[in-house]
This record gives sequence, C-alpha cells and structure tokens, in this order.
Amino acid sequence: MNEKQSNLILPTHVGIIMDGNGRWAKKRGLPRYVGHTYGAQTFRKITRYISSKGVKVLTLYAFSTENWKRPPEEVGAIMKIFRQYLTDALTDFRDDEIKLVFIGDKSAFDSHMIELINETEEISKNRKGMLLNIAMNYGGRNEILYAVKNLCADVKAGIIQPNDITDKDIQSRLYTANIPDPDLIIRTGGEHRLSNFLLYQSAYSEFYSTETLWPDFNASDFDKAIEEYNQRNRRFGGV
Ligand code: IPE
Ligand code: IPE
Ligand code: MG
Repeated sequence: MNEKQSNLILPTHVGIIMDGNGRWAKKRGLPRYVGHTYGAQTFRKITRYISSKGVKVLTLYAFSTENWKRPPEEVGAIMKIFRQYLTDALTDFRDDEIKLVFIGDKSAFDSHMIELINETEEISKNRKGMLLNIAMNYGGRNEILYAVKNLCADVKAGIIQPNDITDKDIQSRLYTANIPDPDLIIRTGGEHRLSNFLLYQSAYSEFYSTETLWPDFNASDFDKAIEEYNQRNRRFGGV
C-alpha cells in the first residue's frame, strides 16, 4: 500500500458485481466456462487482498436468480466451479480469518452443494476477520419478496400491526439483516446497472463501474475504486 492509499477512507462494506467472464473468454477464442474458471481465481486473490486492507464486509455477486436462463452446459460448468471453490475455500480463507456466509435462495441447489454451503458456513462461523457474503442464486426482488411474505405471516399471526411496520422490520428480514448497507458497489465488465443486486440495500451506495473484465481485475483496480470513492461527496439527501 502506498502512502496515498494509506490516507484514504475505507468503505466498511464493499459489494462487487463480478461481470465479464464470458467476454474475457470470447476475446481469447475460448469457451465461456474458461472465463468462469479464471474468474474464480480472481475471486480467491481479490478476496484475500480486500480482507488484508481491513474492509469489514465484502459481498460478491456470483450467480443471480436470472442466470439459470443460460445454456445448461454453462450453468453446469459454473456449478462445478462453485463446488471446487467451496471445497478450497474451507481451508483457503482460514488463515485470513474470513467468515463465509451465503446469501440467496439455497434451496435451488443440489443436496451436495447445500451440504458444502452449510459446512463452509459452520466451519468459518467463529472467525473474527472480514465477513464474506457470497450471493448465489441471489436476486434483490426475490429477497424483498421473502421479506414481505415473512412480514405478512407475522401480521396474520398478530405479532405486528400493519401500521407499526417500519423500515427496520423490512431490513431485519433481508439476507443482510444486521449488516450495514454497502458503501461502495463495484461492477466489472463496463455495464452501468445493478442487475438485481442488493436493490434495497443500495439506496445510497456509491456505484463504480470499470471496463476491466472480472478475470483481469486486480489489486490496483480495487485501489483505483477506493481512490475514486474518496472523491465522492455522500450527502444522503442532505446538503
Ligand atoms: C459474470 O460473467 C459471471 C456470472 C454471471 C455467473 P458473465 O458470464 O456474465 O460474463 P459476460 O458478461 O457474458 O462477459
Ligand atoms: C450480473 O451479471 C450477475 C452476476 C455477476 C452474478 P449478468 O451478466 O447476469 O448481468 P446482465 O445480464 O448483464 O444484466
Ligand atoms: Mg455478464
């Protein structure tokens, strides 16, 4: 870390939309799944780097509720990569004290994957370092829908009255309950959209988009995002 970096304010919670794996592979005349394999390596390296900087919470968007629309071969290849990386992550992030939590609808995965997810969460739950949320089969609209259904059930049971519902009652029913909203959301691959990522939580997040494709994203790209974040004037609707 250079001196310029050490004076910068670090966001507490960073979200990353890891996009551009397919284009990275296509540019090289390779099948899309190869891009996902390289992307998984970036995931491993950058997570450790971000943790070493002192970021408290990192949320990585790995697979959306809409990504099932892709050809079955690509979805199959992605699931295979997930399984491999979950197995590696069990030991990989141990020394960094990284705690892993999965956000999204796990029920869509096969039983082996669900087992791996549960095992990963269980093994890492007492770690004291960065919280790493991996968004898998995650969709912001789905998350809000679950929260609404849960609230309706509590209203029906007489636990809460409709007029007493507050923003907190919604927040506490999201996957990210008790976690501060993301301060900075980075998207690789050049698109300027959220693609259903943390819709409720991103109300006042700073958005940073880079043309860099995810497999090429490195420590200096992350540092650049932090430098730009420090130029932003966050007003939260005030003056
Ligand atoms: C992101 O890369 C990974 C997933 C959505 C699983 P893409 O596969 O979307 O890559 P591009 O956007 O097609 O290049
Ligand atoms: C967003 O990327 C989802 C993930 C990175 C997991 P997509 O490639 O699915 O998004 P769109 O289709 O460009 O909006
Ligand atoms: Mg994409």
